[in-house]
Amino acid sequence: MTRRAGLAWAVAAAAPLLLVAACAPRPALSDAEEAAATALSARLADRFQAELQQALRDALARDGAAGAIGVCAEQAPAIAARLSAESGARVRRTALRNRNPAAAPDAFERDTMTAWAEAPLDAAGRPKAVTQVSAEGLRYMRAIPTGGLCLACHGAPDAIAPDVREAIAARYPADRATGFREGELRGAFSISWTLPALKQALAQQAG
Ligand code: HEC
Repeated sequence: MTRRAGLAWAVAAAAPLLLVAACAPRPALSDAEEAAATALSARLADRFQAELQQALRDALARDGAAGAIGVCAEQAPAIAARLSAESGARVRRTALRNRNPAAAPDAFERDTMTAWAEAPLDAAGRPKAVTQVSAEGLRYMRAIPTGGLCLACHGAPDAIAPDVREAIAARYPADRATGFREGELRGAFSISWTLPALKQALAQQAG
């Protein structure tokens, strides 16, 4: 093949690729919008975690672990609902082995947590997080590792006090959220935005 023929061949081969590139849909969000949305989502996860941890510590101190089950059962969904209403996002917790039946994961959540199950922390020791943009909107997830405090209600069944086991069984007959060890992935925060809700939240933040 001459050099010229080679060049013509290369152009002919590249043309369909160029066409594909030209027809590719415009990304739903700019890089700056995606970064701002990730920061916004991370702050929602931070607030959820801080409020829940405060409620949990107060309840444990006041009522002990068995009494705190009821507080968790009421407070956790209430905090999630309030943060959702305030932000316009859907704010929730999910787990591969869930206690609340409403915390069962969808496909994206399951795949993400399966990938994190062995190692929920990144190299810097922070919970792993991921942002995914699609035509529908933006999703953000952040790992929730199991801490020592969690074992009273999520640890090995025979290490959970009998009155706590009873309180869990009474409220969550289909509970799957025991048998965790410290450091293991317990679940994840999951924040989902539709594009209109996200654009509105970003505009509010900018204005
Ligand atoms: C006092 C008992 C208790 C303690 C201690 C506790 N939890 Fe829970 N946990 C619960 C209850 C009850 C639920 C179900 C709450 C609900 O209905 O959303 C729950 C649900 C969860 C969920 C939501 C997914 C699911 O399985 O339904 C996650 C994630 C979670 N806990 C993580 C933790 C972590 C992390 C800790 C330690 C920092 C912890 N929990 C400590 C009782 C407890």
